[in-house]
Amino acid sequence: MCILSLLIRIRCSMFQIMPYKSTFLTTIILFIFCTSCKKELVDQAIYDLVKTAESDLGMVVSAHPLASEVGADIIAKGGTAADAAIATQLALAVVYPRAGNIGGGGFMVYREGNGAVTALDYREKAPAAAHKDMYLDEDGNIIKDLSTKGHLASGVPGTVAGLYATHDKYGRLGFNKLIEPAIQLAENGFKLTKNEAKRLNELKEVFVELNGEDFPFVKASPWKAGDLLIQKALANTLRQIKTKGPNGFYWGQTADYVVEEMQSGNGIITKEDLSSYEASWRTPIHVTYRDYDIYSMSPPSSGGVALGQLTKLLEPMELSQYGFQSVESIHRIVEAERRVYADRAEHLGDSDFYDVPIDLLLDEAYLEERINDFSADSASSSASIVAGDFAMAKESFETTHLSVMDGEGNAASVTTTINASYGSKVWVKGAGFFLNNEMDDFSSKPGTPNMFGLIGAEANKIEAGKRMLSSMTPTIIEKNNQLFMVLGTPGGSTIITSVLQVFLNVVEYGMNISEAVAAKRFHHQWLPDQIMYEKEGNFDADKIKILESMGHKLRAVDHIGTVEAIMVVNDTMIVGAADPRRDDHAAAVRE
Ligand code: GLY
Repeated sequence: MCILSLLIRIRCSMFQIMPYKSTFLTTIILFIFCTSCKKELVDQAIYDLVKTAESDLGMVVSAHPLASEVGADIIAKGGTAADAAIATQLALAVVYPRAGNIGGGGFMVYREGNGAVTALDYREKAPAAAHKDMYLDEDGNIIKDLSTKGHLASGVPGTVAGLYATHDKYGRLGFNKLIEPAIQLAENGFKLTKNEAKRLNELKEVFVELNGEDFPFVKASPWKAGDLLIQKALANTLRQIKTKGPNGFYWGQTADYVVEEMQSGNGIITKEDLSSYEASWRTPIHVTYRDYDIYSMSPPSSGGVALGQLTKLLEPMELSQYGFQSVESIHRIVEAERRVYADRAEHLGDSDFYDVPIDLLLDEAYLEERINDFSADSASSSASIVAGDFAMAKESFETTHLSVMDGEGNAASVTTTINASYGSKVWVKGAGFFLNNEMDDFSSKPGTPNMFGLIGAEANKIEAGKRMLSSMTPTIIEKNNQLFMVLGTPGGSTIITSVLQVFLNVVEYGMNISEAVAAKRFHHQWLPDQIMYEKEGNFDADKIKILESMGHKLRAVDHIGTVEAIMVVNDTMIVGAADPRRDDHAAAVRE
């Protein structure tokens, strides 16, 4: 198919260059070829994606052009960055259902124009009937797929509570105005991109297995780019939320649908689980790095603590002297990551249930001690790195991020997820949305990796009502006390290191924000003991050989993270950078 399409493309371009040489028959054949060629090109360009945009009035960068434009329009109508973040998330729940959601949860770091920074936690919670051995068989072994697929994989959703908590504190426009674009997109449908059509076709079998054939995400013939996806049931649920507020989700008809869905499978979420869900305001993690103040998400995400540890470990190394992705830079970053992810595995969990030693993990003396066995010439072995002692002082990586700035200096950094692509793959009949499979982010069995290969322990064991540990790293950075950057990304365990690299690309390697986002990335997470690196980047054969000779193990992957970033340039110009790796889009606010 690809070769045929390539041949057709070559023939088509030949036809454009040398039409006068064509015989009548060739003309007919080429006309047929070119018609299909043109169609394919049209299919690839359902939306005009903007990867870099500038404005002094505001910016929204998200995973889908329709969602970014909804958010930018809200700012243009007088909304705050919070209003835009709410409207964009609701639109993503419709047009980007593989990760955008009302059936999952998320985190937001918010900065007001006056410089006050807060963090909102609307992470899913384990249902009341959850317990630490719920995914183990009688011999104590993990039962395959139980925490990732089907009804038992879901935590109690937090997104709708999070949207209302955001609106109560920072909203200016009525919530009805923020939800209406999402209702229209669900009711009238939107055109699928090529990526989205491909993903739906790949998942058809599991969708049918869990939901039957009677729902909008499966159809007899394969999906293709440009097909309209209409979600009437979701439109009705959004209307319930519009008229009844959070009760339109956590009580009444929508809650009934969720509980009925649970009972039709092996699910355990009850009406009480839903009606008792609340979002929580947290104190963001704050660290400094030279002239920069970095604010990121606190537990139950590991993102802020890990990013804080990494930047504190790397700051004294003055990476700029070694250059972007030089062997020296890669080695230093990897050795910091190895230690930080070992700490994550041991010490991070929901701070409402476990005393996470945040201050100690970020303590300069502790971090100095942590890196004092670093060798510039050879890799440490992850087997020899255990989590720090204070007495001593895989899946498809979905999730989605949106970055927002308005013209008043307010900024929202929001990462939200249903974990895997389309979460548990269970679609709530009647209510029209997918449920998360976030329970897999708990440590189902100490020392056994989850779908991201992450190891966990006591701090992240399953307990009723507890939030599972996350890697989401919504981040806001100030430079000399002025708003400088908003960024974040999906990518499971690679989220933290992707955010780190975009920051370093700007402040250490002198890239502009679009270059920093587009640059190829690498990742190490202690276990498995390997450097994952993106293909077709700077990891050439010579570099790989040198790194291997130092004791590193390497693995090439297709891509790491999909960063959405905004940076303030020359004090006033807001520059949005959408990741070129997917259908992401930067929408500038216009008059
Ligand atoms: N579900 C991915 C994360 O929260 O890290």
